[in-house]
Amino acid sequence: MDGQTLVFADPAAVAEEAARRFVSAMAERAGGRFSLALSGGSTPQRFYRLLTASPWREQIDWGSLHVFLADERFLPSGHPDSNFRMIRETLIDPLAAEGRGVVKLPACNIHPMPTDGTVEDSAIRYEAGLKGFFGESPPRFDLIVLGMGPDGHTASLFPSHIHPKGPWVLPVHNSPKPPPTRLSLSLEIINQSRHVFFLVTGHDKAEALSSIRKASKETLPAGTVQLNDGELIWLVDQAAWGES
Ligand code: 6PG
Repeated sequence: MDGQTLVFADPAAVAEEAARRFVSAMAERAGGRFSLALSGGSTPQRFYRLLTASPWREQIDWGSLHVFLADERFLPSGHPDSNFRMIRETLIDPLAAEGRGVVKLPACNIHPMPTDGTVEDSAIRYEAGLKGFFGESPPRFDLIVLGMGPDGHTASLFPSHIHPKGPWVLPVHNSPKPPPTRLSLSLEIINQSRHVFFLVTGHDKAEALSSIRKASKETLPAGTVQLNDGELIWLVDQAAWGES
């Protein structure tokens, strides 16, 4: 499989390493704005919360951080299963919480995927927003944080779906993981990133991880993440790594 793999004892150690690497990736870009695209799911939540607490919170230049979504479930933003809602609850709101110092991510630095109108229209609008931020050439995010499903999906790119080339943001229908309608950054945009962290924990990921590590990586979307000119790191726990 492409990239470097680091195996840790448990999900807490995976989140700690992700925080350490995130701070160091931001330091590389000191002075400029830092574009970060985040995934949903349960695995990254520990990492997002960690960033809002000492000693990481003080090491992050929050004013230069721009938060985008790698994928979104096409649900109202307040819906319990919305990825943006989860990111707000684990990262954005705790930063500004009483007693934790006054640290804020400026509202204009937060770029949720729109989930009103049709999903096709939302994909077009998010891509237009990316063009406003990055310019007309395909964007190079500083960091994209990805997870992997037990079926080998990543972001909202699912096995057996056809992923059209060209658009930066894809409308997704018939997702096998609920809800069925979603938005996702395209593989081409993911592969342009400067850094990608895959955060993968739990026994249910072991089979997909093993098949990506062996021969069939091309068949699973997570295995097709192969950066053009960036650093791809898989941070996995022992349970996901399995026996092999
Ligand atoms: C989502 C995702 C998805 C997720 C993986 C892993 O909206 O669900 O962004 O790609 O990252 O399914 O999810 P877990 O971390 O919950 O296993």
